[in-house]
Amino acid sequence: MRAMQSGYMHWAKFKPPVRYPLTMSEVPHFRMDSLPISIADLDLDGASHPRYAPLREAIAARHHVSSDQVVAADGTSMANFLAMAALISPGDEVLIEHPAYELLLGAASFLGAEIKRFERNPEEAFRLNPAKVGEAISERTRLVVVTNLHNPSSALADEEDLRAVGRLAAAAGARVLVDEVYLDSAAPAPRSAVHLGPDFVCTSSLTKVYGLSGLRCGWILAEPDLAERMWRLNDLFGVNQAHPAERLACIAFEHIGEVIGDNPALLARNRERWNAFVDERADLDCIPAQHGITAFPRWGGADTERLDALLRERYDTAVVPGRWFEMPEHFRVGFGLATPDFKEALNRLAAALDDLQ
Ligand SMILES: Cc1ncc(COP(=O)(O)O)c(C=O)c1O
Repeated sequence: MRAMQSGYMHWAKFKPPVRYPLTMSEVPHFRMDSLPISIADLDLDGASHPRYAPLREAIAARHHVSSDQVVAADGTSMANFLAMAALISPGDEVLIEHPAYELLLGAASFLGAEIKRFERNPEEAFRLNPAKVGEAISERTRLVVVTNLHNPSSALADEEDLRAVGRLAAAAGARVLVDEVYLDSAAPAPRSAVHLGPDFVCTSSLTKVYGLSGLRCGWILAEPDLAERMWRLNDLFGVNQAHPAERLACIAFEHIGEVIGDNPALLARNRERWNAFVDERADLDCIPAQHGITAFPRWGGADTERLDALLRERYDTAVVPGRWFEMPEHFRVGFGLATPDFKEALNRLAAALDDLQ
């Protein structure tokens, strides 16, 4: 049965709100009205602007690629869907990491792919291990799908491992889709894998790391012929993007330093606090957080659905239960809360863990 919805996304959107949402996987929202914007900047002429060149150029400049390698999309979500739709035909084999962001599985399933998995093992710090890809890939594989940073663990794949995966894919006649929505929260952020060659297709957005999820500014980076196919395919889906949002995205790129602000320092502080917290807890097993906005500890108390339920009921706090990543003994926490809130959230998490001991 092909997926016709995302259980995870529905849960993420409509779960009851809590005061301390460790579920959050993005930095604090950035208020665009803190930038010098006037209504005239939005170019409200009522017209569509197909493949709006200034936005394409801004994305291209940020990634040091040419404009014809850039396809705009509504968030990384639509970017992933569009990339997969251009690369997968019904019945094609698609190899997806495990654990994985559920929507990657859902999109491939919706498109009729035959989904196979390869492991990113907690024992190997969730490393992208090319040997695991090599064991699972076949000549029927058309696409290998990975996240970098890895959601949920934030493990960073280095260029050597990515290149090795690229060689395996190329030998099978497949491409590699790298979802890079969290990559710019690596410290320091590496370049996009699109620079590793035409076998790589990369997606990202101004959402998670930039606090602009409401803008829905996303993109795909791919070799020009494939990018052109994606633009043509998008004529079937959304035709064009909302022009005021395109204008706002251009303005965000012009002021990207202000948009980023002190988020790298905030994430570094919260990661440090998290690492100290884990060090003190015998019931948690977690690789030290070095990069990213999320961590994915293993809890000795088994199914983390219970932990999330107790956190919500008694502590006005929440985590993402690992069942959403097919690993129920793990849970995901996010580092995007303001540091005082993050500190308090960890106090509450500690209390809930103690209750369940
Ligand atoms: C790996 C991954 N890709 C894409 C997305 C969605 O990103 P966007 O808001 O840019 O659509 C998420 C959101 O959680 C994610 O974790």
